[in-house]
Amino acid sequence: MRFKVGVALTFCLLSSVLFARTGTKAKYVGAEVCISCHKADSLGNQFRRWLGTPHSRSWVMLQGKEAKEFAGKMGIEDPQKSPTCLRCHAPVFRDTSLWCKSFHPEDGVQCEACHGPGSLHVKAMKAGRMIEEAMLPKPKGKKFCTVCHAGAPHPTEKFDYKKFWRRVVHPLRKK
Ligand code: HEC
Ligand code: HEC
Ligand code: HEC
Ligand code: HEC
Repeated sequence: MRFKVGVALTFCLLSSVLFARTGTKAKYVGAEVCISCHKADSLGNQFRRWLGTPHSRSWVMLQGKEAKEFAGKMGIEDPQKSPTCLRCHAPVFRDTSLWCKSFHPEDGVQCEACHGPGSLHVKAMKAGRMIEEAMLPKPKGKKFCTVCHAGAPHPTEKFDYKKFWRRVVHPLRKK
């Protein structure tokens, strides 16, 4: 995990201006950028909750003994480098063209894995412009989770949406 907000962001936000004009899509800014605002209690501090869930460690734990054992059985030497594991444990690892420099797949199932790429949202929020296009989707329903919570190449706990959601649910904004 890293939480410094680097200069790298400036470039990405500048280029997002161009993207907005040419209708190109938002990019992934990475957890550290989302957190720079969403660790505030007034916005709900989703950061604190997320950090306490396995989602924030899903890449790191691929270093562990259990992960190496699963991987070994499949002939994978390093799970932290294998697309077979990264697909769910470090989403967006493949699409480097969609990364801002502040995006690190090592941060695991981070905010944007669920809310989508956030560069346009960040840019608008920084400018204090609450425009519709800059609002990020709030994923709904079981189907969204089972993209990763079904079909893993290793045993997993049976996915019960209500039970699992209760374990990771983060606070909403104070109204
Ligand atoms: C510059 C500060 C800032 C940054 C950085 C930021 N946000 Fe936000 N975000 C806000 C504010 C302020 C709101 C509340 C907007 C409103 O009035 O509804 C918000 C609202 C949201 C919402 C709710 C959207 C809605 O429709 O109500 C989501 C989801 C969200 N942010 C996710 C993210 C994610 C993911 C990131 C990182 C990609 C991020 N935010 C980065 C300031 C920020
Ligand atoms: C991009 C893939 C991905 C998505 C989408 C995703 N998860 Fe996960 N989730 C993971 C991975 C990978 C782990 C394992 C992390 C670890 O143990 O280090 C995990 C772990 C969890 C855990 C901990 C499991 C345990 O044993 O306690 C819960 C709870 C959870 N997720 C709930 C959810 C819910 C609810 C959703 C949908 C709102 C969701 N997840 C969406 C990939 C995902
Ligand atoms: C289809 C998505 C998916 C893929 C691909 C995947 N995993 Fe997982 N992994 C998960 C989910 C979801 C969990 C959460 C466990 C649960 O729900 O019981 C998890 C949990 C784990 C755990 C247990 C973590 C704990 O806290 O107990 C290990 C170890 C692990 N994965 C290793 C791997 C390795 C190694 C690979 C590659 C060979 C891999 N995973 C590929 C989705 C996936
Ligand atoms: C596992 C998926 C997942 C992850 C990871 C995740 N969220 Fe969310 N988030 C959701 C879901 C689902 C909702 C909608 C909850 C609802 O409507 O009850 C939501 C709602 C929100 C909202 C809307 C609050 C409001 O007032 O309506 C904000 C803001 C937000 N998330 C920010 C974040 C930030 C910041 C991070 C990273 C620190 C993050 N989320 C990580 C799934 C996720």
